[in-house]
This record gives sequence, structure tokens and C-alpha cells, in this order.
Amino acid sequence: MIHELYRKLYFSDFGDERGKLVVAEGDIDIPFAIQRVFYIYGSDDSVVRGQHANRNSQFVLINVAGSSKVTLTDGVNRETVTLSRPMEGLYIPKMVWKEMYDFSSDSVLLVLASTHYDESEYIRDYEEYAAMMRT
Ligand code: TYD
Repeated sequence: MIHELYRKLYFSDFGDERGKLVVAEGDIDIPFAIQRVFYIYGSDDSVVRGQHANRNSQFVLINVAGSSKVTLTDGVNRETVTLSRPMEGLYIPKMVWKEMYDFSSDSVLLVLASTHYDESEYIRDYEEYAAMMRT
């Protein structure tokens, strides 16, 4: 079965002489109702974050400043995306294994989530994840 690993999203970028303003509305630009926002900053190019899959959560990642890379896999297919533009989002469906790395020192990675935080929906062991995806 082909599993969607990700989808790139492009947000409206309103700019004038005062600067830029990017809009992402839940259920319109974001393909779910946003329940949670968190952001990752202060990481650098020696760090690998993520390394998990979520049973229920969908996410949209936006590097609102700086850049980072995301590698996504469903246990078979594997793709890497570079995030470096504030008006670009990376939609990640549930049950995709993700790793975020190569953070620039100024990286601020904004994450929009479809769920409230629930540690019990995280799969943090890759072998367990790969076995689930084989069945
Ligand atoms: P972690 O899952 O390791 O972050 P990431 O995989 O995105 O690098 O989470 C780091 C810590 O933050 C961990 O103690 C759990 C906590 N946390 C919350 O309490 N709520 C949240 O929404 C998230 C994403 C993490």
C-alpha cells in the first residue's frame, strides 16, 4: 500500500513596506482543526529530534525562521524535505516516522497538531513501528 508521507502546503504571504504576514487557518489552509501549537528552537546541526510516529496525530511543520531537514518514512519509502521558508508548511499524516535534524542556529520550527498531547499515542521504537506497518 502506498502511504502518503507528506504534502507541501503554501500559505498566503501578505507583504508590504512594513514586512510580511503569513496566514494559515485551521480546516482551510491546514487540513485539520488545530488543537495544539508547539515550537522547537535552540537545536543545532548535531541534534536529531522526533524519531517517532504518532498513532493519531497529524502535524504541519513550518520553519518560521532558519532551516531544518525532515526525513519521513513509512517503513518502506523514505523521503527528505528541507524546510526554510516561513510561507511553506509540511503536512505529515498520522503513522509516519519522522526525524528532524540539521537545524540552523536560528531555526524556529513551528508545529501545528491535530490533537492534544498524549504520550500514549507515540511509537518511539522503530522496530515496533516497522513491524506495525508490515501487518
Ligand atoms: P519530544 O517528543 O521528545 O519532542 P520532539 O520529538 O518533537 O523532538 O518532546 C520533548 C518533551 O516535551 C517531552 O518531555 C514531552 C514534552 N511535550 C509535551 O509535554 N507536549 C507536547 O505537545 C510535546 C510535543 C512534547
